[in-house]
Amino acid sequence: MGTFLGFAFTLTLLFCMAQGEVLRYDFLVRETPIDMLCETNRTILTVNGLFPGPEIRAHRGDTIYVNVTNIGPYGVTIHWHGVRQIRYPWSDGPEYVTQCLIPTNSSFLQKIILTEEEGTLWWHAHSDRTRATVHGPIIILPVGNTNYPYKFDEQHTIVIAEWYARDTKDIIDEALASGGDPDLSVAYTINGQPGDTYTCSNGSAYNITVVLGKTYLFRIIHSGMNEEMFFGIAKHNLTVVGMDGAYLKPFNTNYLMITPGQTMDVLVTANQTPGRYYMVFSPFVDTNAPSNENVTRGILQYNRNYNHSETPALPELPGFTNKSDAGNFTIRLRSLNSKEHPSTVPTSITRNITITVSVNQQPCPANQTCAGPQGQIHSASLNNISFWAPSISILQAYYNNLKGVYNETFPDKPPFVFDYTGNVSALGEAANVSTEVLMINYNEEVEIRFQGTNFGAAENHPMHLHGYSFYVVGMGDGNFNDTYISEYNTVDPPYVNTVGLPKNGWTAIRFKADNPGVWFMHCHLDRHASWGMDTVLIVREGPDKDQKMLPPPEHMPPCSGL
Ligand code: C2O
Ligand code: CU
Repeated sequence: MGTFLGFAFTLTLLFCMAQGEVLRYDFLVRETPIDMLCETNRTILTVNGLFPGPEIRAHRGDTIYVNVTNIGPYGVTIHWHGVRQIRYPWSDGPEYVTQCLIPTNSSFLQKIILTEEEGTLWWHAHSDRTRATVHGPIIILPVGNTNYPYKFDEQHTIVIAEWYARDTKDIIDEALASGGDPDLSVAYTINGQPGDTYTCSNGSAYNITVVLGKTYLFRIIHSGMNEEMFFGIAKHNLTVVGMDGAYLKPFNTNYLMITPGQTMDVLVTANQTPGRYYMVFSPFVDTNAPSNENVTRGILQYNRNYNHSETPALPELPGFTNKSDAGNFTIRLRSLNSKEHPSTVPTSITRNITITVSVNQQPCPANQTCAGPQGQIHSASLNNISFWAPSISILQAYYNNLKGVYNETFPDKPPFVFDYTGNVSALGEAANVSTEVLMINYNEEVEIRFQGTNFGAAENHPMHLHGYSFYVVGMGDGNFNDTYISEYNTVDPPYVNTVGLPKNGWTAIRFKADNPGVWFMHCHLDRHASWGMDTVLIVREGPDKDQKMLPPPEHMPPCSGL
């Protein structure tokens, strides 16, 4: 039997060589002790005992099998953020959308199908709040290793995360039960290190040693839960060259604004006086909701003789609340649009969808006390529908034609028109709690206009779509208006999987619905996603054989209702 399987595996390997290589990784999800911020008796959920988790490194077009084994105390799922998984939603990972939880003491062999992604992506747990500590990089090199549209000498991966003083699953479970705000994180970390602004972390700040004259590629991954961040390195120029697994037209800046869910590839040349320089992540806070207003810093140090005890210089970053600097960075993003990496922006839109993005409140049930604003329950919605996850997976229900799990009724328009970004205080804040999916025909050219609203604590929402990257053709403040269409960028808009919808503003995205399957779409602020700022796109299959979903794997994690 063993020999036979081995033989079959070799055959598959040979067969797939034309497309790319077949790689194999093992992920063991388990509780791991960790020392952090003077605390020595904490355990956190990790993959392979690492925080951040292990890196997956592959080439464009490879197929990767990851055998995920869970020996943690509760069920989990793992998602490959930004991998389009063409025709194969089965391994995508969001709980109750494409699969049920991988129970304790069992495994799920997940298949990651890379096609055109090239650059930096990441993976993370997609169940409850476990992604706070269960996440890691996916590095996708060009075929041939050297075929980058830019030059550099060395590369480093920088994972930014948020650290909580208590178990993150307890935090979210309690917050959802009380209706109140979940605890804030108490620190930000760079590659697992809070850095020298925190107690007990002074000696362990993340640092990179550089050589004068060399150029470094930094692959920056924002794995944080709830805050956008500014980033900069004292005195050093940043050249942004890629984002979300696609190349950008290079541009120079002295700071980045990056949202949870996004990745950015940045070149830095060590061309300053040899010495030590702080690299700093500092939150961008554009809401009156509570936020963690700490910073985290690491050190870029030259490998030369100089006075190592001198305090490193600090970068000048925009202030926490600087909305215009956040916006001014984002509007500079353009896709590379070269001969090798062309932009193919849909221009004959056949399906036009407008989605309001709101922070809501639900009334507190009679004879209960609720910890949300004005004694109510925190909630959030898309087109006034607060997503309710079913207890079996939507993908499996769809594939097996099970009725009663979801409704195909997510609307193309907000249920009613109002001054979305104006004074909404006279309007009710409740949304409908239900499981409604947006049905899209195969190969439709889709435009989605996200419209922020002024309900609750308005803020920037990093909207993320599974199964696709999309072109961001337009963005602005206030209510969307048809006259903006003529100002869209349909030549070289950025091609991304997560876009920050500006506070009380709008964003228009386009994609061709050529990847059939069941795909989650949600705000990547964990707080909002857990309150219902989510929906599911079901992209129907096309008539041809290669326009259908691939068959499911032999073993999916079990759903109690299936
Ligand atoms: Cu980064 Cu739904 O995921
Ligand atoms: Cu949000």
